Amino acid sequence: MTSPLPGLRTEGLSRVYPSGEGTVTALRPFTHTFQPGMTAVVGPSGSGKSTLLNLLAGFDTPSGGRVVVGDTDLHALTEAGRADFRLAHYGFVFQNHNLVAILSAQENVEFPLMLAGVPPRERRDRARALLAQVGLERRAGHMPSQLSGGEAQRVALARALAGDPQVLLADEPTGNLDTRTGNEVLELLLAPARAGRTVVLITHDPEVAARADHTLRVRDGEVHAEPAPAGMR
Ligand SMILES: Nc1ncnc2c1ncn2[C@@H]1O[C@H](COP(=O)(O)OP(=O)(O)O)[C@@H](O)[C@H]1O
Ligand SMILES: [Mg+2]
Repeated sequence: MTSPLPGLRTEGLSRVYPSGEGTVTALRPFTHTFQPGMTAVVGPSGSGKSTLLNLLAGFDTPSGGRVVVGDTDLHALTEAGRADFRLAHYGFVFQNHNLVAILSAQENVEFPLMLAGVPPRERRDRARALLAQVGLERRAGHMPSQLSGGEAQRVALARALAGDPQVLLADEPTGNLDTRTGNEVLELLLAPARAGRTVVLITHDPEVAARADHTLRVRDGEVHAEPAPAGMR
């Protein structure tokens, strides 16, 4: 559905927040090229992981530097241009599933496709196929309140995958799930990674991080790429 884009990279990306009289440096200048596959982002609470992800998503504005996707400077776009760009190329999953409460599972998955102008019949078929892919074909008509945490997270993942995004960003998507359900969600994130998409996953769980192809370690706003562990692929 989307045309492939060659990669995601940052150039001197930084973020300083105002804090009372002073400032908090949440991200120190960070230059990195994300490789296709899964990159795990690890580090203690408050180290700057979500700050980085929100900048990569274009939800937040950098204090310095750039986020470049293919040949597009994300923050040089207008707000509306960035929203369109996200619809075409990005998928998101958060710790809390962020499903729209008044829409069924099926309608939640269809929603970004509707915004992207996909015709009704095609988006219905596509949403059905995605729900089947995450093992929820029989929950299509359920409302979010009728789903378990794991089911809701899988619907959110189906929604994130709906546009076959080149970049998939996930902020602790398995954080609220039991181990088994968390593993199922992780498998669903690994599938696009194996298909050459760029998946960036924030996680607290060393076992989850060990399944990733690449690791970024964040500490006090400083990000370091770790060498890939041998034999993990
Ligand atoms: N909107 C904000 N305003 C002010 N400070 C913020 C804001 N968001 C995050 N911070 C601060 O930036 C630092 C990094 O936060 P965050 O990226 O959320 O960390 P993590 O996701 O690793 O737990 C923390 O010190 C946090 O308090
Ligand atoms: Mg966070």
